[in-house]
Formats: sequence, structure tokens, C-alpha cells
Amino acid sequence: MRFDAIMKVVVMLVIMLRHCNGLSMNYYMLSCPMAEFIVRNSVNSALRADPTLAAGLLRMHFHDCFIEGCDASILLDSTDDNTAEKDSPANLSLRGYEVIDDAKQQLENQCPGVVSCADIVAMAARDAVLFSAPGLIYDIPKGRKDGTRSKIEDTRNLPPPIFNSSELIKMFGQKGFTAQEMVALSGGHTLGVARCSAFKNRLKNFDSTHDVDPNMDTQFMKTLVKTCSAGDTAEQPFDATRNNFDNAYYRALQRQAGLLTSDQTLMTDPNTRPIVNAYAMNQAMFFFDFQRAMVKMGQLDVKETGQVRQNCRKIN
Ligand code: HEM
Repeated sequence: MRFDAIMKVVVMLVIMLRHCNGLSMNYYMLSCPMAEFIVRNSVNSALRADPTLAAGLLRMHFHDCFIEGCDASILLDSTDDNTAEKDSPANLSLRGYEVIDDAKQQLENQCPGVVSCADIVAMAARDAVLFSAPGLIYDIPKGRKDGTRSKIEDTRNLPPPIFNSSELIKMFGQKGFTAQEMVALSGGHTLGVARCSAFKNRLKNFDSTHDVDPNMDTQFMKTLVKTCSAGDTAEQPFDATRNNFDNAYYRALQRQAGLLTSDQTLMTDPNTRPIVNAYAMNQAMFFFDFQRAMVKMGQLDVKETGQVRQNCRKIN
């Protein structure tokens, strides 16, 4: 092959591998070739011991990306003069920090100062989904840098569980997502639980004779009332298969057994209902849309320049 033809191929490859924001699929190919393997190993061994952590890792990536972009700001600890995002009420139930610490420690041993905490969070969320849905495998671009700002007040930009569909469409729209992408991402609630404090707004006028939320199945309402009788921190799974990544969440919405106001509203609103019905009927379609939306979410306001933290909980 002539030199210019070879150069053309090389340039095409570089363009294919690099995204416009400086991220690329093979970012660590030369600098830390074992990076993906190390993260997947840490995630898999943690999840074998406690499969419920998959939900924590997925939610952590969402809460990281929605505030200040995907820059691991969620991992920074509070200091004497700063209260960090992780200490906001919206983040107090986040779980899985020790999985990230474990992966980071191994990566620092293998290739010090190379793999960012933001990339570890993104890879861990992807691997948590794969663990919970064998077959749902997808590649994500890497190369995010770690941020230095983490402030409790920034977390007001996380969607509250009482939001209705139009409010969710608006909030996700401001981040560049379509309504369909928002509904696909909400499918993250196929994993994990919510505490009574997040859904008791739907029960507040409940008494044994009146159904207060017209969009809730009566039997399901009774289950929630029973759960909440154990207090604000009592946990209720989002769907019947809390550790399996599947489309049971959307089927629950069809039965009016969505847990949060922000879940059931997707079925109530005629604008989003057809998407819920499509995902409930076609799991492959949900998986396809979910992985694309996750790759997009993982590129929210990423920092091309910045630091790679040595310890994910502290800035260098
Ligand atoms: C659409 C707007 C959203 C709202 C209003 C929302 C709200 C919530 C709330 C209130 C909880 C329960 C927290 C608790 O009681 O401890 C929760 C849990 C969770 N959320 Fe969301 N969320 C949204 C979107 C997402 C997205 C986009 C993802 C991921 C792609 C996600 C993943 C999760 C997971 C996996 C859990 C369970 C966590 C666990 O079991 O530890 N959520 N969410």
C-alpha cells in the first residue's frame, strides 16, 4: 500500500476512535491497557458478594453526570470549608463508593496517575448493567478528567421524585435529551429500591377507604402503605426483579405499579405513554435505546483538561 493510502487509513481510524470532545473508545489502549479489565473485575467481585450494589453504581454515574458533568464530583468528600455533593439529602443513599476505591487502588498500582475517577465511575456503571443483564454489553468512550468542584448546592439540579412528565421532559431537554431518551434512562429504575421518604407523597391522604393517587393500583398502594409503616427509610423495590436489568419496570408502569410520581407519570402522560408501552413489549428496543442514551449521558459536560485524582475522594 502506498504511504498516502496508509496515512488515509490511519486518519480514518483516529477519527473513528476519537469523539469530538476528546474522548475515545481506546483511550487507555497504550497508557493502561488493563484498565477496562481491572474495573470489570472489581465490579464483578463486589457484585458477586452483593448484587444490590449494581443499582448504586448505576445511580452514582447518573448523579455524577447531571451535576457539573461526568467528572467524579460525586466522589469528593466534604472538607472543613466545603460541603460536597455526596452530603446532599438527594445523595445520602448513594452506594458503591468502596467499589470505585477498590478499582482506583488497583489502577494506581498498575498505571499510576492515568485512569480518571470519572472514567472509573462510567465504566463501573456500564459493567454493573452488564452484570445484571448478561448480554447487554456496550463500549463507552473514555478520557474524562476529574473535576475539582463539588458543592452541595449544585445538587438542586437533580430531578426530584415528585416531578411530572412535562417537568422531566423539560429538565432532561435542558441537558440535550429527547423525551424518548429520558424514558429510556428512567428505565435505570429496573434496578434497586427507593425509600418511603421518596414516594410517601403519593400516600399522604391515604386511609383504608380512599384511594388517593388515581394513578396507582389499589393493591400496590396497600403494599406501599405497609412498607411505609416501618418508617421513612423503609425500602421498596422499583419492580419485582430488583437485581435484574430487564423491562419489568415498564410493565409495572402499565399495571399502575410505578413507585415514584416521576415513574408513573411516564405512563399517565399521553406524550410518553407510547414509549413506555413499546419498551414494555420489546425489551430489545429498551436495551438498544438505553445503551445509546447512557453513552450520551456519559459525555455530559466532560472535562478534556484537568486532573486525574490519585484518591477519588480528594482533589490532588
Ligand atoms: C427521571 C428522573 C429520576 C428521578 C426523579 C429519580 C429519583 C430517584 C429516587 C428518589 C430514588 C430513590 C432514592 C432513595 O430513596 O434512596 C432513585 C433510585 C435509583 N435511581 Fe433514580 N431517578 C431518576 C432517574 C434515574 C436515572 C436516569 C438513572 C440511571 C440511568 C437512575 C437510577 C436509579 C437507581 C439504579 C436507583 C436505585 C438505587 C439503589 O437501589 O441504591 N435514576 N431514583
